[in-house]
Amino acid sequence: MEHSFAPMQNDLIIRAAWGEEVERPPIWVMRQAGRYLPEYHEAKGTRDFFECCRDPEVSSTITLQPIERFAGLIDAAIIFSDILVIPQAMGMVVEMVDKKGPHFPNPLKSPTDGQYAEVMARDVDVSKELDYVYKAITLTRKKLNGRVPLIGFCGAPWTLLCYMVEGGGTKVFKESKTWVYKYPEEAKALLHKIAVLCVEYLALQVKAGAQLVQVFESWAGELSPSSFKKFSQPYLAYIAKHLPIRLKELGLDPVPMIVFPKGAWYALDAACDLGYNAVSLDWLYAPADAVKTVGDRPIVLQGNADPGVLYGSRGSITETVQEMVDGFGWATRKKGWIVNLGHGITPFVNPEDLKFFFQEIHRLTKTQ
Ligand code: CP3
Repeated sequence: MEHSFAPMQNDLIIRAAWGEEVERPPIWVMRQAGRYLPEYHEAKGTRDFFECCRDPEVSSTITLQPIERFAGLIDAAIIFSDILVIPQAMGMVVEMVDKKGPHFPNPLKSPTDGQYAEVMARDVDVSKELDYVYKAITLTRKKLNGRVPLIGFCGAPWTLLCYMVEGGGTKVFKESKTWVYKYPEEAKALLHKIAVLCVEYLALQVKAGAQLVQVFESWAGELSPSSFKKFSQPYLAYIAKHLPIRLKELGLDPVPMIVFPKGAWYALDAACDLGYNAVSLDWLYAPADAVKTVGDRPIVLQGNADPGVLYGSRGSITETVQEMVDGFGWATRKKGWIVNLGHGITPFVNPEDLKFFFQEIHRLTKTQ
C-alpha cells in the first residue's frame, strides 16, 4: 500500500463490480463533475480546462462537487481529468476551445508525416508527464475521507487515435478511416504504443489511490464489426490483460476494470470476453437483451439510461428508471448492475432532475 487512506464507509461499487450480490445497485454518472453544475463554473472561473486538470487542488475540488451535492445518493467519484492527457503526454498539443471541445493544432497527418515518426520514436514517461493526475488522485482520496471510492480512467487506444488524427471531434471520421483503410499497419503500431501507455498510466493511478478504473472507447461505434476486431478489441484486451500484471509487479492489489465500448452493440458478446469485470452500455441496448447476451459469465453491466431523459419530465425519468430496474432484473438478481447513464451527462441538465433520477433508483430498488 503506497498511501494510507481512511477506511471506506461505502464500498458498494467495488463489491458490485467484483460481481458480488449487494444490497442495492451502486450509482454514478459519467461526466458527473462538469458543465451542468453551477459550482463547476464557479470553481473553474476563468481558468482554461486543462489548467484545472493540472491543478490537483482544483481538480479534487471539482471531483468532489457531485459527491457533496448528492451526498448519500451516489456511490463513486471519478477523478476530474480528460482522456486527452495521454496524447499530451505523447508530445501533442491539445487545447480545449470553449463551447467547441478539444482541438489539436497539429494532428497526425499520415505515416510519412515527420510528426508520426517523432511520436512513435518518443520515449514517453507517463510517471513524469502525468504526475499531476496522480497527485490529484491522492489529494482527492484524502478529501473523500472514505465517503465513496474513486474511479480512475483513460481513453482507449482507438478513441485516442481518432482524436490524434482528426485533431478534434468529427462526424465523418475522414482521417481515422483513412488510417484504418490506407495505413492499417502504422495505425496498429500507434494503437499498440498507446495501449502500453494506458496500462502504465492506469497502474500509476491505482498506485496513487484510484480504486476502480474505466477505459473509455467512446468511438467504438464508428468501426465496422470487422474493423472493431482489428483496431479496438485487441488493444482493449491488451489493457485488461496487462494492467493486473503491472499492478502485481508494483505490489498492488487488483482493482475492478470497466470498459465502455460506446456504440459497439454488435460486439457486446466479445466485450464480455475482453477481460474486464464490467461492460458499460450506451442507451441503445434493451437491458434485458444485454443480460441475456452476458449469460452466465461473471460480467457486470453498467448503464444505461438515455442521458436525454434528464431533459424530460419527472414521469419520464421514473419510467426510464423502472424500465432499467426491470430490464437488468434487479429484484431477482441483486447483482451484475452498476447504475449509470448510457453516456456522459450533458450540459444544461438541471441538477435537481439528476437528483430525482438518483432518488428514483434508490426508491425503486429498495429491498422490501
Ligand atoms: O466523468 C467525469 O465527471 C470525470 C471527468 C471527465 C471529463 N472528460 C471532464 C470533461 C471524463 C471521464 C472525461 C472523458 C472524456 N473526455 C471522454 C470519454 C467520455 C465520453 O464522453 O465519451 C472524451 C471523448 C473526452 C474528450 C472531451 N473532453 C470532449 C469531446 C470534450 C468537449 C465536449 C464536452 O462535453 O464538453 C471534453 C471537455 C471536458 N471534459 C469537459 C469536462 C467537464 C468540459 C470542459 C468545459 O467546457 O469546461
